[in-house]
Amino acid sequence: SGLLQAMATQSGAALLLAGLLALATIASSNTEGDILYMQRQAWRDPNNVLRSWDPTLFNPCTWLHVTCNSDNSVTRVDLVDAGISGTLIPELGGLKNLQYLELFTNNISGSIPTTLGNLTSLVTLDLYDNLLTGAIPASLANIRTLRFLRLYRNKLSGGIPARLGRLMKLVKLNLEDNMLTGTVPLEVLSLLLVGDLAELNVANNNLAGTGQSSEPRMAVVIQDALKTTG
Ligand SMILES: *[C@@H]1O[C@H](CO)[C@@H](O)[C@H](O)[C@H]1NC(C)=O
Ligand SMILES: *[C@@H]1O[C@H](CO)[C@@H](O)[C@H](O)[C@H]1NC(C)=O
Repeated sequence: SGLLQAMATQSGAALLLAGLLALATIASSNTEGDILYMQRQAWRDPNNVLRSWDPTLFNPCTWLHVTCNSDNSVTRVDLVDAGISGTLIPELGGLKNLQYLELFTNNISGSIPTTLGNLTSLVTLDLYDNLLTGAIPASLANIRTLRFLRLYRNKLSGGIPARLGRLMKLVKLNLEDNMLTGTVPLEVLSLLLVGDLAELNVANNNLAGTGQSSEPRMAVVIQDALKTTG
């Protein structure tokens, strides 16, 4: 009976362990839903497009405008021309498998969270046509998978981070219609030669300097004509 008791204790411990593991799994699969629900609460949503973002569901994969992979991890958030206003929460940087963040043509304000640089699977960051202010985070240079970075038609200020020149896979970089200052860093321009960059649009900013290109490959550089003073 001592043996039986030992076996019972052991299987009890095994059950407890299994239970704890299940709980841990639930907790981790809820994390991304928690982040998105937190983001929902930080936004104004006059058209009620986020009504399916129900935090009591097991994961966010059935929510409208959210796409997951086969592991129930969020890969896309698509909220285009949805009438949304408010800010982007820093916790968004925790959506570790996010590949597409499509939030263009809304009224999103505030700055681009530095933490978005943690989205190291991101392919497309489309935040254009919003009311974003502040600087372009240099941390975006950590996203080596990034192919499309479109931040045009916002109110972004400060310089273009030279570190973005590390984004060798970048195909389109559109920063048109902001309030950016300084010059286009050579590191970024060089992507037209050594990277995949095919289109660089920095027109309608407050940029000084040249950034002219002798059209390497089929690259397009769109920039305001140099202002000559005197
Ligand atoms: C932004 O807000 C203004 C004023 O409320 C509204 O007229 C406009 O349609 C909104 N734009 C978008 C893209 O939601
Ligand atoms: C996310 O990014 C921020 C700012 O770049 C950094 O401080 C933080 O440690 C990162 N978090 C994780 C979980 O990697």
